[in-house]
Amino acid sequence: MTFEYAPAPESRASVTIKPKYGHYIGGKFVAGEKHFPTINPATEEVLSSISLGGKKDVDAAVKAAKKALDLHWSKLSGRERGKYLFRIARILQERAREFAVLESLDNGKPIRESRDVDVPLAAAHFFYHAGWADKLEFAGVGTKAKPHGVVGQIIPWNFPLLMLAWKVAPALATGNTVVLKPAETTPLTALLFAEVCEQAGLPAGVVNIVTGDGSTGALIVNHPGINKIAFTGSTEVGKIIAESVAGTSKSVTLELGGKAANLVFEDAAIDESVEGIVNGIFFNQGHVCCAGSRLIIQESISDEFIKKLQKRMEKIRVGDPLDKNTDLGAINSRAQLEKIKELSLAGDAEGAERWSPQCSLPNKGFWFAPTIFTGVTQSHRIAREEIFGPVLSVLTFRTPQEGIDKANNTPFGLSAGVWSEKGSKTLWAAQKLKAGVIWTNTFNKFDPTSPFGGYKESGWGREGGRHGLTAYLKGVTHE
Ligand code: NAI
Ligand code: MG
Repeated sequence: MTFEYAPAPESRASVTIKPKYGHYIGGKFVAGEKHFPTINPATEEVLSSISLGGKKDVDAAVKAAKKALDLHWSKLSGRERGKYLFRIARILQERAREFAVLESLDNGKPIRESRDVDVPLAAAHFFYHAGWADKLEFAGVGTKAKPHGVVGQIIPWNFPLLMLAWKVAPALATGNTVVLKPAETTPLTALLFAEVCEQAGLPAGVVNIVTGDGSTGALIVNHPGINKIAFTGSTEVGKIIAESVAGTSKSVTLELGGKAANLVFEDAAIDESVEGIVNGIFFNQGHVCCAGSRLIIQESISDEFIKKLQKRMEKIRVGDPLDKNTDLGAINSRAQLEKIKELSLAGDAEGAERWSPQCSLPNKGFWFAPTIFTGVTQSHRIAREEIFGPVLSVLTFRTPQEGIDKANNTPFGLSAGVWSEKGSKTLWAAQKLKAGVIWTNTFNKFDPTSPFGGYKESGWGREGGRHGLTAYLKGVTHE
C-alpha cells in the first residue's frame, strides 16, 4: 500500500525581502550603483535587486574593516569578542525559521535541509568559536599568534549561510575584521546576517558585506588592504586566486572541488549503505563539494546493490523546496543546470548507462531528476569531473586494493566514504584513501569541532576545529 503525501508548505510569512539591497559597509547599508536580480531557482521569480560591488565599494569596505580593527576590535579581550559571537549564535537560533525559509527561497534547497542542517550548523559554528575566543593561548598555536588583520572572504552558493559562518566565526574569534562577498545567486541570507550583526551590537565595520559577482571577488582578492583571503568555490577560480596572491604577503586558504568516492565492500550492511549513498549524492541536490559522487562498489554485490539503490531512489521526492516533504529541491541556477546536463550527455556519449526514476518535474524553474550512471570507467568525464548535481557515477572493483586505487585516481582529495562491517577493513581503507575527510559507515556529517579541507586540487588549509583557527592567525608556532 502506498501513502500519498498532502502538500506541507512552510509559510513565507516569517520573511521580509526588500525590493532592493545595498552593501553593508561600516555598519550601514550603502546604496550600490549597478544592480542585478537574485531569483528563486524553483520558480524563476525575481526576489530582489542586488548591488554589484565595484572598486569604490570594495575600497570603502576594506577601509571600514581596517578602522574597526584599529579602533575597536583589536582593543577587545578575547572574552569580550566571545560575547559578541555568543550573541550572534543565539540570534541565529532565535531567527532560525526566517533564515531557513529565506535560504530555501534564494537557493532552491529543501526546507528540511535548511531548517535541520544549514541554520543549526551555522549557529553551532558561532557557539564553537565563541568558546575559543578567550582560550587561544590553549589552542596549541603558541603565544605569539596574532590575527592577520582585515580578511577577505569569498563564498559559494551551495551553503550560503553556513559558508558565511565557517568563514566569519573563526575570523572574529581570532580578532580579525571581515569583508565578505556572498555568491551572486544567493546573497539574501548574508544580507539578513548584516541585521544580526546590528542586533548583536557588533561594532560598525567588524563585518562588512559587499555583494557582486566574480569581478567584485577579484577586487577583494587584489586589494592591497586585505591581509588574508579565504575562498570556497571552484578549483578554476581557486587557481586564479592562488596566482593573484603569489608574491604578495597575503595569506590564503582555498576550499575547492571534489569527486569523492564512496567505497562499498561486499561485507557492508547493504540497506544502511544504500541510505548513505543516497544521502551522499542527493543531499543538497548534489551541490556539495564533498558529495559522494562516485560509488565504487565490490563487483560481487553490485547487481543486488544497484537494484536496491534504484528502489530507494524511486522514493525521492523532487519538487517545491518549501514543502516539508521534499527531498530534492531545485538546481541553483540555469548555468549549473546546463553544466549538469552537458556532463550527463557526455556520460551517454562515452557509453555509460543512465537511469532515473519516473518523476514529474515542475515546468518552471531549474530541475534535474536524481540520476545514476552504471558501467562507468575511470576515463569517462563523469568519473573525473565534478558534476555538482544529483548524478552518481558507479564503478566496480574486485580486490580491496583495486577499490582503493580507483578511489584515489582523481585530481581531487576532499572526502571519501568507506562501507564495511569489518572495523579493521575500514581503518585499513581510511589510511590508504587520500582525502581530507573520511567517513566510515556514514557520510556528509559535519561538526564545527572537526577540521574540514582537502588534498591536491581540493584546496589548501583546513576550516573548523582547532586546525581551522591557525588559518586566521599569523606567527603560529605549534609550541
Ligand atoms: P565560482 O568559483 O565561480 O564561484 C564561487 C565564488 O567565487 C562566488 O562568490 C563568485 O562570485 C566568486 N568568484 C568568481 N570568480 C572570481 C574571481 N576571479 N575572483 C574572486 N572571486 C571570484 O563557482 P561557480 O561558477 O558558481 O560554479 C562553478 C563550479 O564550481 C560548480 O559547478 C562546482 O563544480 C564548483 N563549485 C564548488 C564549490 C565548493 O563548495 N567547493 C562551490 C561552488 C561551485
Ligand atoms: Mg537566488
